Amino acid sequence: MKIFLVISLLLLVPSVGAQQVGLIANTDSRKTISLDGQWQAIVDPYESGFYDYRYRPSDNGYFKNAKPKSKSDLIEYDFDKSASLKVPGDWNTQSEQLFFYEGTVWYKKSFDYQRRPNTRLFVYFGAANYQADVYLNGQKVGQHEGGFTPFNFEITNLVQTNGNFLVVKVDNKRRRDAVPTLMTDWWNYGGLTRNVKLVETPATFIHDYSIQLQPGFRDRIGGFVKLSGDKLNQRITVRIPEPGISKSFTTDRNGVAVIDFNAELKLWSPDNPKLYEVIIEAETDHINDQIGFRSVETRGVEILLNGKPIFLRGVCIHEEAPFRGGRAYSREDAQTLLGWARELGANFVRLAHYPHNEFMIREADRMGILVWSEIPVYWTILWENPPTLENARNQLSEMIARDKNRAAVVIWSVANETPLSNARLSFLKNLITHARSLDRTRLISAAMERHYINATTQMIDDPLGEYLDVLGCNEYVGWYDGLPDKADRLEWKSKYQKPLIMSEFGGDARYGHHGDPLTRWTEEYQENLYRHQIAMLKRIPFLRGASPWILMDFRSPRRPLPNIQDYWNRKGLISNRGEKKKAFYVMQQWYRERE
Ligand code: GCU
Repeated sequence: MKIFLVISLLLLVPSVGAQQVGLIANTDSRKTISLDGQWQAIVDPYESGFYDYRYRPSDNGYFKNAKPKSKSDLIEYDFDKSASLKVPGDWNTQSEQLFFYEGTVWYKKSFDYQRRPNTRLFVYFGAANYQADVYLNGQKVGQHEGGFTPFNFEITNLVQTNGNFLVVKVDNKRRRDAVPTLMTDWWNYGGLTRNVKLVETPATFIHDYSIQLQPGFRDRIGGFVKLSGDKLNQRITVRIPEPGISKSFTTDRNGVAVIDFNAELKLWSPDNPKLYEVIIEAETDHINDQIGFRSVETRGVEILLNGKPIFLRGVCIHEEAPFRGGRAYSREDAQTLLGWARELGANFVRLAHYPHNEFMIREADRMGILVWSEIPVYWTILWENPPTLENARNQLSEMIARDKNRAAVVIWSVANETPLSNARLSFLKNLITHARSLDRTRLISAAMERHYINATTQMIDDPLGEYLDVLGCNEYVGWYDGLPDKADRLEWKSKYQKPLIMSEFGGDARYGHHGDPLTRWTEEYQENLYRHQIAMLKRIPFLRGASPWILMDFRSPRRPLPNIQDYWNRKGLISNRGEKKKAFYVMQQWYRERE
C-alpha cells in the first residue's frame, strides 16, 4: 500500500521549488484572488509577438508589455489600447471576426498584490485551449499543453506589490501530433476558457491529498496527504466532524502521510449523494473539502455501486453552454445541463470527449449523478509519437489529480473511437496502466470499436477490451448505419465477460422540423430511431448502461448543412435553446421504467 502511494505521488507531483509545481488540490478552500473579467487581448495570427521575422523566438515579444519610452521609441503593439476579451470565455463567441479563428491570442491582465510574510503565491488556470505560454512581469513562468485540464505555476519570487502584468499566449492551432489531433466533431473554442485566479498558501502547505474508500472496502478509508515546502515532517490530522472522526498521521521526509483508518459512514449514491465535511490539518496549514464515500467495482457483467448492481441511465454531454453557445464554464451552466439530464431520468453522464470544468463535477457530486470522465484521445491520434503519448499521459494525470476526491466520478475513459492497430493498443495500454497507478478506486473504460460478424450480429472483440473494466461502444444503427428499423434485426455479442455501456447512439433532428418517421432531420425520424434503439438495447444481456449522443445540440465545424445544421451537430435530445425534441420523451420513458 505505502509503496503504491509513494509511486502515485511521485507521478502526481514533480519537484518542489521550481516554478512548475504539481496541481494544487482544492483551491476553492484557499485564499484566492480572482483574475476573471476583461483582459486586454492582441490577436496575433502570425505570432509576431513571439517570433522575429526570421521565425526565431524573440526576447522582446509581447510578453514584455513594452511601452514607448520616448516619442522616437518603436513599439508596434499596445495591450492597453487593444480590445478586451472576457475571461473565462472562448474568443470564438465573443467576436464575429474570431468565430472561425484558430491561432494565437495574447492576453494581458494587470494587478497589484500585497504579499504577506511566510506565504507563497501561485497563478491557477482552470484550463486554456490549447497551448498556453505564461509570463509574469516579462518573465516566463511556464507552459501548458492540453485544452481541458487545470494547471498552476508558482510566482512567489516574481510577484511585486504594484503593477504586475500577467501575459498569456494562448494558441489553439490544431496539430497532427496533438491530443486531440486535427479532426474532431466539436468546435475548437480557443482562449482562457475557465477561471483564472491567484492562490495564496502558507510557506509549507497541503499540496495534494486523496481521501477515499480503500478499493474493496466500504468501511475503511485510505489515501495520502502531501505537503509542499521546507517543513515537510509534520503531524497531520484528518477530521470528519459529523461522525466525530479524528485520526492523526505523520508525514515522511518527502512530506507524505499515508492515510488509513476504519470508518462507518453513510455511503454516497445517486439516491443519497451524501457528502461529508472533511478537514485536513497540518501544523502549518489546513484545508477542508466536501467528500462522498462510495465503492465502485465490477463482477462479471455487473457494475456494483456500494456492492449493489446498478444500471447507468446516462446521456452524453459536450461542454457547450446552454442558450448562449460557446464553451460552458460556470456553475449555472453545469446546473442547467445536469438539471436536464436529471429531468431525462439520468443517474449517469458521459462527459465527452475531454475533462469538463470543475463546476460540472462538483455539481454531479452534490446532485448524485455518476460521471464518466474522458481525455481527448479521439479518432486517429499519432500513436507512434512519444511526445503525443507523454501529452496524453499528462492530461490523464491532471484529470485524475483534479477529480480524484469526487465520489461522482466512477469511470476514467482513455479513448473514443480509435482505429485498431498494435501501436494504438500499446499507446492505450500505457494510458490504462498509468491511470491504474494513479487511482485504483475507479473503473477504466473507453469507447471501443465493434464490427459485424454477419449481417445481423455485432461483435465486441476489440483487443482493448481485455484491459478495460467496463466496455464502451458507440453505434449509430439507424443513422450512419441503415434506417431505424435495422436495430430490430440486430443481435450483440461480446468476447468479454464484462459490463457494456452503449456509450453513443442517436441521430440528428432540428427542433421544430417535422415530417414522417423516415424523413431525415425531423423530430419524428429521431423519435422513431430512439424507439427502435431502446428495443434493441433491452435485448443485450450484458448491457449495464447507456448514454445516448447527446443531451444538447453542440457546435461542430463538420456540420455545415444550411437551415438544418448551420455548424451545429443536431443529435441533441434538446436544442441549444433548451427545447426538448420528441425523442427526449422516448428516452425519459425508458429511464422512468428502469428507475
Ligand atoms: C461519433 C463521435 C462523436 C460525434 C458523433 C456524431 O461517434 O464520437 O464525437 O459527434 O459520432 O457523428 O455525431
